[in-house]
Amino acid sequence: MSEDIVLRVNNLKKEFGGLVAVKDVSFEIKPGEFVGLIGPNGCGKSTTFNCISGLLNQTSGEIEAFGTDISQMRPDQIQKLGFTRTFQHTRLWRQMTVIENLLIPPRNQYSPNSLKSLFFPQSRPNEKTRLSNAYDALDQLEVPHMAHNLASELSGGQSKLVDIGRSLMGDPQLLLLDEPVAGVAGPLAMKIFNNLRRIVNETGISVLIIEHNMDFILRQGVDRIIVMNEGEVLMIGTPDEVKNNREVIEAYLGE
Ligand SMILES: Nc1ncnc2c1ncn2[C@@H]1O[C@H](COP(=O)(O)OP(=O)(O)O)[C@@H](O)[C@H]1O
Ligand SMILES: [Mg+2]
Repeated sequence: MSEDIVLRVNNLKKEFGGLVAVKDVSFEIKPGEFVGLIGPNGCGKSTTFNCISGLLNQTSGEIEAFGTDISQMRPDQIQKLGFTRTFQHTRLWRQMTVIENLLIPPRNQYSPNSLKSLFFPQSRPNEKTRLSNAYDALDQLEVPHMAHNLASELSGGQSKLVDIGRSLMGDPQLLLLDEPVAGVAGPLAMKIFNNLRRIVNETGISVLIIEHNMDFILRQGVDRIIVMNEGEVLMIGTPDEVKNNREVIEAYLGE
């Protein structure tokens, strides 16, 4: 029944000791949707991502990928189902080139197989396919010229791009991007959103993107926006609906 729903989060709750970081969050992501997740600092956005991607166990609530309960799965198992993510603080291997960074699975997403392939390179599956996927990812993000730069030479914005490129590796069905344009200059930030929109349209994958700037996300052509506040979903709607919602204006835009 719910196999055509990429991600379903239902009554998600996450406590750290006495602190309720996520109180009650429910939403769904459909195939081919580009969705923004927005809310003030500390309202529980990254914690929600950490529960979805398996880094944290939720206190209660359900998380499903294509109708399958993933709440007890490890990060690498969730990744195999097609969910890949980036982190708020980009973590690249600084002494490796961009293309090498793309070929290494992100930290926390090693599976026993990818570890094996690090130590026994000859066992690596489809080495050529992965290399060509890596160049494709850079093409899709319009930065093929960066392939052989060292990660340590990149600007903050370029590092974010490489991080997104890495999330495109391995046939993702859903990209979970945690503030990929925070601290990125306006024109590059817009370019990143434009490229993501095009990737969604061309491939039919889904993107859920955390952003803290309401004014910015309202103008980036996302399909829907989930507005969070203090661990709860305040509203879900199109950019136009969000812009005109009195509660949102008071809680968020009115600040
Ligand atoms: N691992 C953790 N241990 C304890 N508290 C945490 C942890 N991660 C997040 N928090 C707290 O949970 C709340 C929500 O944090 P977070 O999800 O990072 O918010 P956001 O991403 O919306 O800025 C904050 O009060 C934060 O300090
Ligand atoms: Mg965060």
